[in-house]
Amino acid sequence: MKDDNYSGNRVGVKSTATSIQPSQLQELFEDELKDIYWAETHLKKAIPKMIDNATSEELIQALENHLNETKEQVNRVEQVFELIGKQASTKKCEAMDGLIDEAEGIIRDCEEGAMRDAAIISAAQKIEHYEIASYGTLSQFADILGLSDAVDLLEQTLEEEKAADEKLTEVAVSAVNMQAASQ
Ligand SMILES: [Fe+2]
Repeated sequence: MKDDNYSGNRVGVKSTATSIQPSQLQELFEDELKDIYWAETHLKKAIPKMIDNATSEELIQALENHLNETKEQVNRVEQVFELIGKQASTKKCEAMDGLIDEAEGIIRDCEEGAMRDAAIISAAQKIEHYEIASYGTLSQFADILGLSDAVDLLEQTLEEEKAADEKLTEVAVSAVNMQAASQ
């Protein structure tokens, strides 16, 4: 009797697991695009605050470099909107809003210098990982939807985000090494 119930449940699960329709995927894609557009436009304002609070030259350089990339990434998202024939618009990204908020909080709470630099790196890497996840998904959706020009643009940004994350790891490692050497 119990087994019959189980098999019934399994059948039920199977029958609801239908594949997603192209129009639904297009809708998800647009939603995710609005989300990352919000995130990127807000990062354009958040990164300069991180730069103002950083002390390591290497970290400042890495953040300035990524600020320039971010401006270009905003343009790329706008180009993707154009490719799908939609007006660029934002949808508040609660996750990025929280990450930026958290970054500002730890900057305030940490003493200026090596500690605040480490906190900035940690916050910036969390942001990068969110972006890597978003652009990875967007690129996959665009690929399934046959939007090859959009895939190219999204992959370009994805590679920049990954490189920025790696650079931040390098900065963190060299800061720790310098600290250890001076002791
Ligand atoms: Fe970005």
